[in-house]
Amino acid sequence: MFVGALRADVAPRPLYLDATQSIEARIDDLLPRLTLEEKLGFVHANSKFSAGGVERLGIPRLWLADGPQGVREEIGPDTWASAGWTNDFATAMPPGIGLAATWNPELAVATGRVIGEEARMRNKQVMLGPGLNIMRTPLGGRNYDYFGEDPWLAGRMTVGYVRGMQAEQVIACIKHFAANNQEQERGRINVEMDERTLREIYLPAFEAGVKEGGALAVMGAYNQFRGEHCCHNDYLLNQILKKEWGFTGAVISDWSGTHDTRQAVLNGLDLEMGTNGAYDDFFLAKPFREGIKAGTYPVALLDDKVRRNLRMLIATGALDQRRPGSINTAEHLATARRVAEEGIVLLKNTGGLLPLDPAKVTTIAVIGENAVRKFAAGGNSAGVKAFREITAFEGIVARAGAQANVTFSTGYRQPVRRSVYQVDAAGVRGSELSPAKPEEIESLAVRAVRAAQEADVVIFVGGLSHQTFGDDEGTDRRDLSLTAHQDELIARIVAVNPRTVVALITGSPVVMDPWLAKVPAVLQAWYGGSEAGTALAAVLFGDVNPSGKLPCTFPKSLKDSPAHAAGLARQFPGENGTEHYDEGLLVGYRWFDTKQIEPLFPFGYGLSYTQFAYTNLKVVSGTAAATATVQFDLTNTGTREGAEVAQVYVHSAHPRLARPEKELKGFAKVALKPGETKTVTIPLTSRAFAFYDPAQSAWSAEAGAYTIQVGGSSRDLRLEANYQLTTTTVGR
Ligand code: GLC
Repeated sequence: MFVGALRADVAPRPLYLDATQSIEARIDDLLPRLTLEEKLGFVHANSKFSAGGVERLGIPRLWLADGPQGVREEIGPDTWASAGWTNDFATAMPPGIGLAATWNPELAVATGRVIGEEARMRNKQVMLGPGLNIMRTPLGGRNYDYFGEDPWLAGRMTVGYVRGMQAEQVIACIKHFAANNQEQERGRINVEMDERTLREIYLPAFEAGVKEGGALAVMGAYNQFRGEHCCHNDYLLNQILKKEWGFTGAVISDWSGTHDTRQAVLNGLDLEMGTNGAYDDFFLAKPFREGIKAGTYPVALLDDKVRRNLRMLIATGALDQRRPGSINTAEHLATARRVAEEGIVLLKNTGGLLPLDPAKVTTIAVIGENAVRKFAAGGNSAGVKAFREITAFEGIVARAGAQANVTFSTGYRQPVRRSVYQVDAAGVRGSELSPAKPEEIESLAVRAVRAAQEADVVIFVGGLSHQTFGDDEGTDRRDLSLTAHQDELIARIVAVNPRTVVALITGSPVVMDPWLAKVPAVLQAWYGGSEAGTALAAVLFGDVNPSGKLPCTFPKSLKDSPAHAAGLARQFPGENGTEHYDEGLLVGYRWFDTKQIEPLFPFGYGLSYTQFAYTNLKVVSGTAAATATVQFDLTNTGTREGAEVAQVYVHSAHPRLARPEKELKGFAKVALKPGETKTVTIPLTSRAFAFYDPAQSAWSAEAGAYTIQVGGSSRDLRLEANYQLTTTTVGR
């Protein structure tokens, strides 16, 4: 019988490779084994989207990938060019604005999970998303990528997305920290704002992502804040993120967002990505090495950065048997479809034109290039090489084509990217655009009007192009209008066929003169990802009752918007390299409500194919978990099942410091069958009543009179109750 003897030279598995040990114990065991060179390898890139790796110790590289709506195609490895792989197709989820429009935190979790599973399949440890910058201006080029204008809604979406993704052993890198609210001069613009505005508007979603979501990565923004680049900003990174919020993960620079070795070493940057030039010339490479050897920088600073990177790497199971991922599955596509369906906002439905019944119409004219345009690859870094992307036209034909004759007419042509376009330091493709020529515009319009005349009903699919100047990274929009003369075309179409539905595919607000008054039905559909067309058709034909609500105000005109009202360059897009957020706290509906300006469609607005009633509001004093509990009954008084997003706003009657007219502090999405009533309970913590008091460097929920308002939008408040906060709570 063979008696196996333990070979003397087989060393026991080192502790850092023991998955039963804690992450901290594994880091403690691994760190001393690393040479200076190996440590430095963790804090700067060694390809466009990787860093670190110590082969002799069995430590793999850390692989990162964009983006917030799906795993981007393989890039590089050392340039911004596509790697030309054929196995890097992925599921395109609706982008941030479309997810926020669902007001469904469960779908934020589901989105994080889908992208996490697909990232694991592609051997990525860090996903560069979600993006959560507040929509300060409707012109913002990346509004599509973010969660809208309200900190509370953005925070709920962030927490769900991060939890869902990190449950899949993939790190969510929340971005761009902070105040990256426009694209113009994004790499250098210096943003100035008062402390309350920072704390109450631009930081809360990040704070929630770190404290509640447990995000283990934060990406520094390109811009400067109070004179220091955000990728190495002592106040933002060391004082607030790491010291105040207790962030234990890694701060990752935006690509080519690092500008100074000393600041990068001392001000909280942990991983430098995307700097131009050779990897050893990065700010945290040779200059950092030389600084350590010269005694300028203590090794302890490097060790802390390495710890933070190892914390991410080990948390993803990269040193262990990581679960296999999955990609482009039916389940992922079903989730993408649900997010797209629940994000569609019904803006108008006069006379009940919607939902359409294809059995009762002979001809449906689908008009508009956006009906056949694919958007998933748009947006530069957020683009996804979609395994599947159903266009609006495909969705409508699949749903109604067997019962009705569905025609198509281009109607208008979005501006075309000229062949020559430059790629900037951040890999952003800017391009010159060629709009259609007058004769082409007219011939397309004439054909579209004729198609409208020959149809029982028209579905006009309009919107933006999701390319330069039209919802795209690197450029802001130039105005709020639809592109390619769509406004005039819609007016001509509805003049010959009043049974016209307009479905807008955009990532940000648009104005709707002169046609809105004449068009009976309007849907805001956002970019919808892989199942965009399926989802739109499901809502158009009534398989799904729309339940989306606007995550941002649609203004009647740009000058009604807070960053544009004064028409001062210092407010937007900035002048002499600095931009002042003079509107302060009054962002989005906070501005429109406080200044009593009528929007085109208000924040939180969205219709349904049924109706809801709100009754029996009670606000009861708090328990341990909540300072106050808001309770009310919600009834579906219509004939179809549907879901309502009930919103809770807090108004402070006599604030010691100026506060917005009201602020969203809670919401719940409630599904109800016809005639069904549910009692809804929404807890409010002390933070819901608090403002940030710079004098105390703390949040203060001050005793006094408040009004709790409940309804289906920020301007449809059905119930109201006075509430007296009896004690003042001050805290962080
Ligand atoms: C880009 C974007 C950032 C992205 C990164 C890598 O310029 O600002 O969101 O994750 O660079 O592509």
